[in-house]
Amino acid sequence: MSRVQIEIFLGTLLVLATGALIIVYGLGEEERMARLERQQQGQAIEVGAELYDNNCKGCHGPQGEGVPGLCPPLNDKYLFTDRMKDVGWSGSVEDYIVATVSSGRLTSTRPELYAGQGSPAMPAWSEDYAGPLRQDQIRNIAAFIMNWEPTAPDRRTEGGQLAGPPVGTDITIELPEGDTVNGEALANAKGCVGCHVSTPTGPAWSASEGTPGIADRSALRIEQADYNGTAETAEQYLLESIVLPKAYVVEGYLDNLMPANFGSTLTAQDAADIIAYMLTFK
Ligand code: HEC
Ligand code: HEC
Repeated sequence: MSRVQIEIFLGTLLVLATGALIIVYGLGEEERMARLERQQQGQAIEVGAELYDNNCKGCHGPQGEGVPGLCPPLNDKYLFTDRMKDVGWSGSVEDYIVATVSSGRLTSTRPELYAGQGSPAMPAWSEDYAGPLRQDQIRNIAAFIMNWEPTAPDRRTEGGQLAGPPVGTDITIELPEGDTVNGEALANAKGCVGCHVSTPTGPAWSASEGTPGIADRSALRIEQADYNGTAETAEQYLLESIVLPKAYVVEGYLDNLMPANFGSTLTAQDAADIIAYMLTFK
């Protein structure tokens, strides 16, 4: 090899080596960017979770399970599968969430299922609509909700079948013996807890200053001067409150919030279990 040839050879080698170095660095850069993006996504979800806790869980449930009769579940397979088609939204689910949350909803699209709290059914959240949140905060909440997509349960098919005949609305029937543990699970699954424990939507079951828990309170209710139902025992009062919520409306609460159809969606055993559970709140 001549000297010139050697020089050309070495030069080519140098160019190749530099190129390889750039490619290796570039690949690393891509991974670094991806890692950064995942990190940012994680932070968005974290911030969104806190904002959700502070602003949304009272209506949509702490785990996005919704409240029957009041607010739709968001941690729900339906939202991520057929909901967009049903409302005629052609964009992404995430954009739908951002848009809905930003402007709120004047009237419910499913008033028979989720009436919300009057008008508007859901208030507007974006500053652009005189709400309390910035657009980036709403994006974070949307990221948090999207984070439920891979594991969201199908709440349309869950527990759809009753295990026996419905309890009905005759409050004098003899109920079977109740099970408090099953009652607690049912109170969660049927949405009672959403209105009676963690939100001020319905009267809290636990005792608070000057107000005994629902167990002792139910015996006192039927002695009240304004009591206009037909219950003669504490258990009957509880059954009446569940299957005929309008028979007696607790003062200071709306008469149309508590779903009126539990008589047809609970079995006698379900009702007995939930009542047994309520009777633990002294
Ligand atoms: C006062 C109760 C209430 C509060 C608080 C509330 N929402 Fe809603 N939300 C509703 C109701 C009612 C609807 C309407 C349901 C319908 O149209 O069927 C709704 C609808 C939605 C929808 C659209 C669901 C769908 O399938 O169309 C999303 C998403 C949503 N809310 C997210 C949020 C977020 C996020 C927050 C907190 C920033 C929040 N909501 C706070 C009551 C509430
Ligand atoms: C959407 C909200 C909501 C849901 C869900 C709900 N309730 Fe209620 N409930 C209310 C409201 C509001 C009242 C007060 C008005 C009235 O008396 O109807 C009430 C009243 C009651 C009372 C009477 C409380 C008292 O202090 O005398 C009982 C008992 C009760 N509910 C039990 C249940 C049970 C059990 C479930 C589930 C099977 C349930 N509720 C589901 C909203 C709800």
